This record gives sequence, C-alpha cells and structure tokens, in this order.
Amino acid sequence: MKIGIIGAGSIGSTIARRLSRQGHDVAIANSRGPETISAAALSAGARAVTAAEASRGVEVLIVSVPMNRNPDIAVHVGAAPADAVVIDTSNYYPMRDGAMRAFDEGQPESVWLSELFGRPVAKAWNAITSQSFDGKATKSGDPHRVAIPVAADLDAHRALAMSLVEETGFDAVDAGVLADSWRQQPGAPVYCTDRRRDEMPRWLAAADRTRVPERRDLAMEAIGEYIAAGGHVDGKFLVAINRACYS
Ligand SMILES: NC(=O)c1ccc[n+]([C@@H]2O[C@H](COP(=O)([O-])OP(=O)(O)OC[C@H]3O[C@@H](n4cnc5c(N)ncnc54)[C@H](OP(=O)(O)O)[C@@H]3O)[C@@H](O)[C@H]2O)c1
Repeated sequence: MKIGIIGAGSIGSTIARRLSRQGHDVAIANSRGPETISAAALSAGARAVTAAEASRGVEVLIVSVPMNRNPDIAVHVGAAPADAVVIDTSNYYPMRDGAMRAFDEGQPESVWLSELFGRPVAKAWNAITSQSFDGKATKSGDPHRVAIPVAADLDAHRALAMSLVEETGFDAVDAGVLADSWRQQPGAPVYCTDRRRDEMPRWLAAADRTRVPERRDLAMEAIGEYIAAGGHVDGKFLVAINRACYS
C-alpha cells in the first residue's frame, strides 16, 4: 500500500521501518524537513519527504505528532485523498501539550481529532510505550505477543488499521468505536501495560471514565518524582508503574 506518515519521532520512525519491511511504499515527514529524518527511520526503504508530500495520493495516512501539533498538520491531512484511511497515534498529556484550544478532556482525544480534520480517524499504536514497540514485536502466534487496541467508527478503517498493527509485530484488538476510545487513553488499564490479546477485553471493560485522567496524572507525577530522585526509567519500569496506577 502507499502509506504516508507525518511525525518521524519514536513511534512514526518505528512504524515506517516495520511497514517498509512488509513491502509497503512508505513516505515519512517531520516538521524540519526531509534531510533531518533519521537514518533509522529510512533503513528499511521508507522515503523522507515534506509533510505536504506525505499525504499526497496515499491510501493510508498515519499521523504521529504531539497532540498539540495536530492543528498544524490539519491542512496536510485535508489534502489526502478522500478515501484514504487516517490513523492517529496521539495521546494528550496536559503537562506536555498545555491547555489546547477547543479540546475538552471529556471528549475522547481521537474524536476531537476527527472533528479537527473533518474526516474519520482510526486510533492505533497509541497504547504501547516506544520501548515496548521497539523491543517486543514478535510473530503472530507467539503466546507472549503484546496486544494493541484499535478503535474507529468505520469497520473497514478499523480492519485496515488492525491489519497494519499486526504487520508491525503485535496482536490487534478491536476496541470498538471512537467514542469508546477513552478506554485506551493514558490512565486506562490497557494503556501502555503490555497486555496480551486474551487479557485485553477484560481490561478494556474495567476502565472507569471518571478516573482515567486522574490516574494518568498520578502516574506522571510518580514518574517525575522517581526521575528527580535519580531513578532510571526504562520500558520495564513504565509498564510496571502503569499497571500499578491504571489497573
Ligand atoms: N513515545 C511513546 O512512548 C508514545 C507511544 C505511543 C503513542 N505516542 C504518541 O504518538 C505521538 C508521537 O509520539 P513520539 O513519541 O513519536 O513523538 P516525538 O518523538 O516527540 O516525535 C514527534 C514527531 O512529530 C513531528 N512533528 C511535530 N510537529 C509537526 C508538524 N507540524 N509537521 C510535521 N511533523 C511534525 C516532529 O518533527 P520535528 O522534530 O521535525 O518537529 C517529530 O518527528 C504523540 O502524540 C505521542 O503522545 C507516543
């Protein structure tokens, strides 16, 4: 497939590598220009392009920028073909993204994004740490394979996003429509806790909407204190603290 990626950070770069390796025609962009995209992102054959070029003629457009940068890329998302499937990896962190105009925390993040872009959006790859995404990809059938929830309003978009998630080395779990995607946001039991496919339905169902933002902030505060005290934060630590705070 012809796939564009806007955002060449930890998540966008890994997606670019994995999907290129699967034989997709991948173009990836950041905000500073193609010459600044890392060699690692391009190592499996992805092309470095401008953000305007990344959405041109694509079948799939993956947006993987900090939540508060999405308004800057809306023009490029709007230029993607009308039938292109847009997949969002964003997560909102108030301490990083600040107060965002017109974003109400009561609204699921990707619902807001879908309204911003004026088109359907699928939510995928948001609920895995960059460390687990880098280090825990395995083949389908591995009993320890980590699962990633995928939400979208259109069944065809959700199915496509799920098949791409599988191609990146993780089991994809159908998490329903975008209105329910708060169940996979920061603070929810499946958020960056490396659950397996068979465990995920229970943890998706266990999420408590009123407590999700509180738990997200609690975990961020605990991680901040640990770092301030000289602690080393790695993928194992993040999954452990997320499980403790969110389950
Ligand atoms: N890190 C994680 O563990 C993780 C896990 C799952 C989901 N996420 C979410 O996925 C998204 C990306 O995360 P990340 O960790 O990959 O972020 P990151 O490492 O900070 O990278 C962000 C990327 O977005 C690009 N970008 C920002 N504004 C842009 C614009 N206007 N036009 C084009 N590109 C732009 C940046 O390019 P420049 O550097 O050139 O500005 C950079 O390549 C975030 O919403 C994050 O919350 C993160």
